[in-house]
Amino acid sequence: MLQKKIYLDNSATTAVYPEVIDVMQKYFSKIYGNASSLHNFGKQAKIVLNNARDIIASKLNADPEEIFFTSCGTESDNIAISGILNAYKQRGHIITSSIEHHAVFYLCKHLEKNGYRVTYLGVNKDGIVSIEDFKKSVKDDTLLVTIMHANNEIGAIQPIETIANELRKINKTRKNKIYFHTDAVQTIGKLQLDVKKLNVDLLAMSAHKFNGPKGIGGLYVKKGTHISPITFGGHQENGLRPGTENIPAIIGFAKAFEISNTKIEEKNRHIFNLKEKLKKGILDTIPNIIINGSGNKSVSNILNVSFSCVEAEALLFMLDRHGIAVSTGSACASGSSGPSHVLSALHVDPIIARGAIRFSFGCYNTETEVDYVLTILPDVIKKLRLISPI
Ligand SMILES: Cc1ncc(COP(=O)(O)O)c(C=O)c1O
Repeated sequence: MLQKKIYLDNSATTAVYPEVIDVMQKYFSKIYGNASSLHNFGKQAKIVLNNARDIIASKLNADPEEIFFTSCGTESDNIAISGILNAYKQRGHIITSSIEHHAVFYLCKHLEKNGYRVTYLGVNKDGIVSIEDFKKSVKDDTLLVTIMHANNEIGAIQPIETIANELRKINKTRKNKIYFHTDAVQTIGKLQLDVKKLNVDLLAMSAHKFNGPKGIGGLYVKKGTHISPITFGGHQENGLRPGTENIPAIIGFAKAFEISNTKIEEKNRHIFNLKEKLKKGILDTIPNIIINGSGNKSVSNILNVSFSCVEAEALLFMLDRHGIAVSTGSACASGSSGPSHVLSALHVDPIIARGAIRFSFGCYNTETEVDYVLTILPDVIKKLRLISPI
């Protein structure tokens, strides 16, 4: 049955651009020096490392010294959050949202067990936090705010700039600055990000979400931010993230970032049109469905749909047999039981949440692929509903 291969799980990971693979090649076997070595091999590696840092910094409107390479988005989030907290002498209060990626969500749960208090801000039906709720949640001992830029399950984009501006006003009245971190893993390479405009202190990135290689992430840390390392070793990345730099992956990150930022609006329009086509097709042909977090404040590539009386995992496997790859939400959530914490925060009925599928598009998807999905999906849903115990 598996004749087609249609990949609609681009929020989990993406295919690496061929140009990225090309530029990475020689850094495995020709320019393979350790960037910390003093000889010529090392110097060459150091030059390309700094060049990649310059490219990424300039696209983000940051200074090169504000960009730190890590191994992934998860590590960037952990360094940002734990690094800020470690720089304080005392425990205190943290503000986050109730729909963060597990990288932030479970870290906050861990911090609660270790003496920190955490406020998880609720969201409206579109998955957006309220500025008023945010302002009310600030306490005398608040140390850090960490709110994601776009959500990985429903695509909702948070008003990061507004929250940051409110926080600046609050900070003027306080002795201890409250730092602001955003997890931008789902927006980097998809939206033109400007760290000065966003007005954040820390911003986490990951290259494999925008057609770069896996195993490489980045963290923006605004100059003057008091942050401590969470792992110890060499002096790489100014001591904040010790360990030999992964030069091929860093080169790939910079190249993919350059390509992604080129014609970004055109690509977004293409992806948005595919999403709208699929959404309309589903609404026209399949009864009893709910679009989760459907507001217009969302990234163009994520569509989350609940099919009533359907188990999402059964649907995922049926679609997979037809060569269509989708997800039941966060890639990292697969295998875990219970409804997604994101859909729970949206107050989606747990039974409805069990039938939620995330379709996520990328630059290589086509209209023909969406047409194919729409020829398969209604029949599959009909079959699953006929045998549904729900
Ligand atoms: C919003 C968000 N943050 C963090 C991560 C973790 O990124 P990585 O897979 O690079 O660790 C993901 C991955 O799905 C994500 O979507």
